[in-house]
Amino acid sequence: MSDLWANLFRTWDLIKAPLRPPPDVVGVLKRQIDTDGAEMALLGVTPELARLGKSLVAIDANPHMIGALWIGDDATRKAVLGNWLDLPLPDKSLDAIVGDGCLSAVTSEAQRLRCLEEMARVLRPGGRAGIRLFARPARSEPLDAIRADALSGRVMALAEIVLRSALSLPAAAPDYGLKMSAVLDAIDEMFGDRKDLMAAGGWPPDAFSFIELYRGSETICCWLNEAIHVAEASRYFADVRLVPSGSYPVADRCPILLLGSPRH
Ligand SMILES: C[S@@+](CC[C@H](N)C(=O)[O-])C[C@H]1O[C@@H](n2cnc3c(N)ncnc32)[C@H](O)[C@@H]1O
Repeated sequence: MSDLWANLFRTWDLIKAPLRPPPDVVGVLKRQIDTDGAEMALLGVTPELARLGKSLVAIDANPHMIGALWIGDDATRKAVLGNWLDLPLPDKSLDAIVGDGCLSAVTSEAQRLRCLEEMARVLRPGGRAGIRLFARPARSEPLDAIRADALSGRVMALAEIVLRSALSLPAAAPDYGLKMSAVLDAIDEMFGDRKDLMAAGGWPPDAFSFIELYRGSETICCWLNEAIHVAEASRYFADVRLVPSGSYPVADRCPILLLGSPRH
């Protein structure tokens, strides 16, 4: 089990948009995949998405994340321990699937493809999925630009620095994986003891403690661009589109991947 996911719940409340989905994202998912009345699955236990649909099963491999973040089982929704690469759901049993950043949390190209294949398997013929991506921009942003924005107070949340940095660091095809410890190393290199950073943003001293969990972490996340996400998804879905997910900071790198017409 990932060392990072086993502990992330401890600092969850410190993680803000764009790493967490603001209300815009929930609105887009509702409209685009018509979640009202849908029998759904959620990949992860993202609280912001947990009330979508007529019924919903949330699937996560980490019992601590379920214990800490799940909104609670009731007659129409429940969380189960399970693997997105082997979904504990029958073929063609769902109308919709949603997920937030989940294709960055699986650790290789092979795992992303397997996850997409599983999504196609469990969706009914008219079923649809909406997955918010963290996608590398067409032109990589230099780390110096992130540093300059942060030190001049132009960054709203530390999560923005984390995401922008992760999407700027080099990562090799075909996996585009990066240890989360490397993201922390880059941030350390940019901001040293972080005194100037914290003063510029006016953040409290513990605001960055969620990324201290990245130190020495072996957990890998994948940071690929939109075109590769679309190409991978197109192997399992005939209808693949990207739509904007809102107007919050760094939303331009967080489109929603809409998947329809699963290839069974
Ligand atoms: C970054 S965290 C949460 C990300 C997401 N934005 C959210 O709001 O839930 C990633 C989560 O994905 C889960 N996860 C990663 N790979 C998984 C897999 N193959 N099967 C099930 N859960 C997985 C981890 O257990 C962890 O709870």
